[in-house]
Amino acid sequence: MGINTAKPFLFFVLLLLRAYFSIAVDTLSKGQSLSAMNTDSISSNGSIFELGFFKRGTPPKFYLGIWFKRLVGERIVWIANKEKHLSDPSSSRLEFSEDGNLVLLEGSYKMPFWSTNLQNLPSNSTEAVLRDDGNFVLRDRSNVSAIFWESFNHPTNTWRPGAKLGMDKAGKVPKQLISWKNSENPSPGVFSLRLDPNESNQFILEWNRSQVYWRSGVWKGKSFNSFPEMRGLNHICNFSFVSNEKETYSTYSLYNTSRMSQFLITSNGQIQQYMWLSSAEPWFLFWAQPNSLSDVYALCGPFGIYHDNTSHPCDCPKGFEPFSDTQTRLNDWSGGCLRRHPLQCENRNAKKDWFQKIPNTTLPINWKAYSTVGARRCELACINSCSCIAYAHNNSGCMIWEGTLLNLQRLSDGGKVGQDIYLRLAADERQNTKGNKWIVWVIVAVLVLATGPLLCLFLCFSSKRKLKRRGEEASSNDILLYDFSTELQAINDATNTRDNAKKKGKKDAELPLFSYESVSAATNNFSTANKLGEGGFGPVYKGKLLKGQEIAVKMLSKRSGQGLEEFRNETILIAKLQHRNLVRLLGCCVEGDEKILIYEYMSNKSLDFYLFDPTMKRMLDWKTRIHIMEGIAQGLLYLHQYSRFRIIHRDLKPSNILLDSEMNPKISDFGMARIVGDNETQSKTNRIVGTYGYMSPEYALRGLYSVKSDVFSFGVLLLEIVSGKKNTCFYNNESLYLLSHAWELWRDGRSLELMDSTIGYPSCTSIMVRYINIGLLCVQKSPSDRPTMHDVKIPQ
Ligand SMILES: *[C@@H]1O[C@H](CO)[C@@H](O)[C@H](O)[C@H]1NC(C)=O
Ligand SMILES: *[C@@H]1O[C@H](CO)[C@@H](O)[C@H](O)[C@H]1NC(C)=O
Ligand SMILES: *[C@@H]1O[C@H](CO)[C@@H](O)[C@H](O)[C@H]1NC(C)=O
Ligand SMILES: *[C@@H]1O[C@H](CO)[C@@H](O)[C@H](O)[C@H]1NC(C)=O
Ligand SMILES: *[C@@H]1O[C@H](CO)[C@@H](O)[C@H](O)[C@H]1NC(C)=O
Ligand SMILES: *[C@@H]1O[C@H](CO)[C@@H](O)[C@H](O)[C@H]1NC(C)=O
Ligand SMILES: *[C@@H]1O[C@H](CO)[C@@H](O)[C@H](O)[C@H]1NC(C)=O
Ligand SMILES: *[C@@H]1O[C@H](CO)[C@@H](O)[C@H](O)[C@H]1NC(C)=O
Ligand SMILES: *[C@@H]1O[C@H](CO)[C@@H](O)[C@H](O)[C@H]1NC(C)=O
Ligand SMILES: *[C@@H]1O[C@H](CO)[C@@H](O)[C@H](O)[C@H]1NC(C)=O
Repeated sequence: MGINTAKPFLFFVLLLLRAYFSIAVDTLSKGQSLSAMNTDSISSNGSIFELGFFKRGTPPKFYLGIWFKRLVGERIVWIANKEKHLSDPSSSRLEFSEDGNLVLLEGSYKMPFWSTNLQNLPSNSTEAVLRDDGNFVLRDRSNVSAIFWESFNHPTNTWRPGAKLGMDKAGKVPKQLISWKNSENPSPGVFSLRLDPNESNQFILEWNRSQVYWRSGVWKGKSFNSFPEMRGLNHICNFSFVSNEKETYSTYSLYNTSRMSQFLITSNGQIQQYMWLSSAEPWFLFWAQPNSLSDVYALCGPFGIYHDNTSHPCDCPKGFEPFSDTQTRLNDWSGGCLRRHPLQCENRNAKKDWFQKIPNTTLPINWKAYSTVGARRCELACINSCSCIAYAHNNSGCMIWEGTLLNLQRLSDGGKVGQDIYLRLAADERQNTKGNKWIVWVIVAVLVLATGPLLCLFLCFSSKRKLKRRGEEASSNDILLYDFSTELQAINDATNTRDNAKKKGKKDAELPLFSYESVSAATNNFSTANKLGEGGFGPVYKGKLLKGQEIAVKMLSKRSGQGLEEFRNETILIAKLQHRNLVRLLGCCVEGDEKILIYEYMSNKSLDFYLFDPTMKRMLDWKTRIHIMEGIAQGLLYLHQYSRFRIIHRDLKPSNILLDSEMNPKISDFGMARIVGDNETQSKTNRIVGTYGYMSPEYALRGLYSVKSDVFSFGVLLLEIVSGKKNTCFYNNESLYLLSHAWELWRDGRSLELMDSTIGYPSCTSIMVRYINIGLLCVQKSPSDRPTMHDVKIPQ
């Protein structure tokens, strides 16, 4: 107890004695030390500057620094330990270490809080002197012009006359000014001033050492270009800019040395020049850049809102609170604002987030544009993406923000034109207005009692309608916002069919259902410009999603009698298939009479587009053709053997082989496909559907189908791909011309003649002969003679 009260008392006494006992010299030598406890200090020869300990903040933090001695008001010009403050003044001291360095120590800590940190000093003869220009210098006592270290080369937030601001060419180490965090905390803040590292001879102000928000303009002889205030000072200050092999820097001096000046980077992000012209006047601010705080980047921090009020420039939006309580007191908004309630987007059971409108603001720049959407669509785009934190829309489009919002500015007076921005908030924020809602309900109740059942009916009706609308929203998705890329990537990456089959077994495919409105928007209202073609059951359109992804939209026409059954078949079956050689069904849409299937988009159309066209077929060289044949075989093998069901496609033909941007073949159109049991080898149908020329004889004549009917079609495909000719062009009654032609050539050992001569002979004729062989084996009349897809060993 006694000691505890004695200590502050002693400190107080020492404070009083300070004036009498402070070391009245400008030099510190080995063996001497400055103690924070004794509030020791040294003063420059002309008593202009003083070096010693000072404190800031509560609880107090102690720093070693230099300040003006005579001027009214403490004005710190340099700090040694700005990053690592001292907390115990009773044991803090500045002294020389054994090796001649200056070190700042506290208590028994061996590691200095700060040090000049030099090597190879003449350890017995260093001394430190505080000069009248405010420079603190470590030098050789026996040769005072040998300077080892000077505080001017380690500036904090102040640029003094005589100091060099710039960088070394060798190490590109900038001598830059860095703002204090706030007036109570000198540790490095977010704003800094330095020379443009791109050697353009100008100074830049940066936020977070990376985002440039102000440039001085390049050096023009006597001043910097976009900086007229500086020219106005040319009769008082002598600015110069030096660039040589060693370094590039700017420095300045005053013509009348009894005047004073200094530059300061404030914790508000401005660079300011102060002048002191005569002892009769105090310091005054000569200029500040940027002129307006509204041009300082991210002054109000994340989610902070700037508004024109110099004494109190920042606020938090509704639902947010200042990062710390020092913010409003010290105007240090670098921490910005924090949500009071976290967003619940990831949590499916929670109430939906909502949006708070902030009117008339300038919009933060880091938005993403979504061009084709309106107000409601813009809101949906944001609510459906958990990374979206705000949106805004105008006549031409929609803007969305992710991550954090910087530079929100509320406009109050003329000049800039503001826009409304909608900020995402948690549902819990709404409860703040609940108090008012109670009053509303009381009024409603009173009204209901007064006006009777009529109003009640009306209320019930409207709330029912609301419910219904909500139900619809929940069940069908907005396709514009969907991202299929990961899904498609996974399929294309999985090369092993078995692996794929296993993966499929674990996770059941869930086919997304999309709203008609969004599908219509994606295809530009099913415009003819977007039409890709007309399939057997209806037109196919190309669509585009917000993220740029393309899709194919197959509409099943209302008139086509086959429509509904094929639709059911296709959606149920294909949704469960995943293979890189099968076209992927991404979703569907059923609304009223409309039945729509959404597929991945294949930019290279279908095989028949190339194969049977005299000019286009040249694009299918032998390598591509082999790649296509191989892919079809893989896809078919998957259907027959590795998918969860044994599937017979029943309509394999070139127009159902689609090609993606890399000419990978994908089997499409599962409208006629059938699932057969594992033991079932053959089925019979009364309704023979398919395409002549590709149907096996037993199916075409008797309606019998099995995996072997697909094998037959595959054989025809191989022969067509090799020959570049269409089988049906030779079809007359029961003689399959291309097939018998191929067989005759094979028999006579002339099968090379079958090959498409328009693209020249392949270098790998033996492989092509093997393909013809496989093709012929597959088109044998008796199903049992044909190989299964498993037997088909595609040559490499
Ligand atoms: C200190 O100042 C006095 C006059 O004010 C001057 O005569 C003396 O040379 C100065 N000493 C140093 C070391 O600059
Ligand atoms: C420094 O001085 C001490 C004692 O004065 C002496 O023992 C030591 O050898 C000196 N070192 C050098 C490098 O001169
Ligand atoms: C004093 O130091 C300067 C600068 O390092 C050097 O040029 C000069 O030669 C030194 N003088 C003596 C006497 O050592
Ligand atoms: C320097 O130039 C690079 C490349 O031109 C540019 O990306 C960078 O923003 C420039 N830096 C500054 C501070 O202007
Ligand atoms: C500042 O920049 C660093 C990287 O240079 C980055 O990690 C950090 O997130 C940035 N701070 C803010 C607030 O953006
Ligand atoms: C201005 O400063 C430069 C370099 O510091 C110096 O060479 C020049 O003589 C000074 N000009 C005047 C008028 O003092
Ligand atoms: C230098 O400045 C001082 C203080 O303002 C003033 O009294 C003095 O007249 C000035 N000297 C010249 C040469 O302007
Ligand atoms: C600026 O903010 C302060 C503190 O909130 C307030 O008292 C003052 O009225 C504001 N001034 C203007 C012009 O809005
Ligand atoms: C309207 O929004 C689009 C982005 O969707 C943007 O490119 C455009 O600049 C905005 N127009 C105005 C006047 O802000
Ligand atoms: C929005 O700001 C502009 C310009 O600053 C001003 O003229 C207008 O009255 C403001 N509108 C609203 C609704 O506050």
